[in-house]
Amino acid sequence: MSNTTQNLKEAFAGESQANRRYLAFARKAEAEGMKGIARLFRAAAEAETIHALSHLQVLGEVGSTEDNLRAAASGETYEFEQMYPGFISTAKNEENGPAEKTFTYAMKAEMVHADLFRQALQRIGSGAEPYYYVCGVCGHITDSEPADKCPICGSSPKAYRRIE
Ligand SMILES: [Fe+2]
Ligand SMILES: [Fe+2]
Repeated sequence: MSNTTQNLKEAFAGESQANRRYLAFARKAEAEGMKGIARLFRAAAEAETIHALSHLQVLGEVGSTEDNLRAAASGETYEFEQMYPGFISTAKNEENGPAEKTFTYAMKAEMVHADLFRQALQRIGSGAEPYYYVCGVCGHITDSEPADKCPICGSSPKAYRRIE
């Protein structure tokens, strides 16, 4: 791998993280009643997204939708089969309850994400255009309108948001 490829990967990771960090900071500023500062964080978050997407394009990591569904399913599978189980057992050993909980929510949600990506791959070209609903607490996704509690975190159906 060339130095520039390595740098693009590093810059993509950094900009992606800055995007989420600034959105978290914007929520905090909003909660503290500082609307202008919240807007600044959201503006910077948007700019970091532009940088991250541009770096990823230059890296050549955006393929056909079929390729992208495969890449997404395998990324999610790695996370729930390998990454999170290791992280959860370390969090248990270190008696870090909040870390154990956030990793467990993510691991269970990633299982569902992997399935949904695989289902979409099967359905490609079928003309199906489902809507998806995301639990705002744990990240569970469902393709049918939620009527019951979230199967992962137990939140009410109201915690779900339909993605347009
Ligand atoms: Fe996921
Ligand atoms: Fe949930």
